[in-house]
Amino acid sequence: MITPDIQEVVSVIEDERPKIPVGLLSRQEKDRHIERAFVGLYRWYVDRSQKTRDWNPDRSFDWKSFRTDHSPEINTILEGFFAVEQYVPDYVSTLLRVIRQSHGRSHFHIRWGSEEEKHADLWYNTVLFSRYRSPDWLREYMHALRSESWELPWDDPLHMIFYTVFQELATQLNYRKLMYIAAGKSDKPHFADARDPVLRQVCAVISADESAHFDFFLQGGRIFLYYYPDESLRAIKDVIEHFAMPANDIIPDYDIFFETILKAGIYGPRDHAKDVVKFALNRMGVEGRKHLEEGIRRMRQVPDEHGNFRETAIFDGLDFPKVEKGVRDSFAAIEAYEREVGLDAVDPTAFVSNYK
Ligand SMILES: [Fe+2]
Ligand SMILES: [Fe+2]
Repeated sequence: MITPDIQEVVSVIEDERPKIPVGLLSRQEKDRHIERAFVGLYRWYVDRSQKTRDWNPDRSFDWKSFRTDHSPEINTILEGFFAVEQYVPDYVSTLLRVIRQSHGRSHFHIRWGSEEEKHADLWYNTVLFSRYRSPDWLREYMHALRSESWELPWDDPLHMIFYTVFQELATQLNYRKLMYIAAGKSDKPHFADARDPVLRQVCAVISADESAHFDFFLQGGRIFLYYYPDESLRAIKDVIEHFAMPANDIIPDYDIFFETILKAGIYGPRDHAKDVVKFALNRMGVEGRKHLEEGIRRMRQVPDEHGNFRETAIFDGLDFPKVEKGVRDSFAAIEAYEREVGLDAVDPTAFVSNYK
């Protein structure tokens, strides 16, 4: 007769026990709380946006002082940034169709689109005032760009929230690095004479917007991760695996632009892996890409206390308490805002835990 080592059995059972407790809420309840959170975050966001980032692409910059003798590299970069932001009608309309049922997400998306529309006009002004191209050339180029349309990389709201987390961070990094060059701080010899205070200010203003976008999508993504850990982690993995900057396949001469930003030290595979993927994952409580992939590979079905099988989003390198803390912080910001404007007395938003 084989006598099982009781200690070993206990330890196997303990290992199998989900470290994220079984969720308490039904899908319907979770979806309702997520929606409430998005409405609250959207209101909080608009308030901050109006108070702190209300700029105008024409009036907020001293265009008459913009340099007209920038290097071909700088001009290629400005044209590239201009081109990427030209697809704003597609960025807005495609995703809006997918999320239109959600008050919080769709209204935020329209607000976000209004900020992205200013980016398109801001980069348009940089190219125009640089005098590198004639206004007619620029109009024709814009027409050519817009003859193509951008399509959603994923057509479901969950993948898209995580796509936008990485995309906004990557965009912010691009603009911040150009700001560094325009401040005359690049160590590349061909940028030794690139100082331009107006361009520096353009990059600073636009980076602040991208940072606010990243922050919103990060908070939203974390809320999904909290209520739907398994599905969210799989979506994050998909997004990382297939990530590409928007419109890179439809912009003519994108390879020349890409080569230029790579050589300029603005953006390349190493920046993407470390300053975008790793950084965003850390902010979402995941230690790194390898941990995520390994963790998902090992996700398995285990029985809960009622004998129902569920997946376990447990792995070393997922800091779930950090995820919950982030979500609680988002709700605290919403609650503070609602107290300020009186919404707390009418229809307060409150955090509802999904776990014991
Ligand atoms: Fe933008
Ligand atoms: Fe953005």
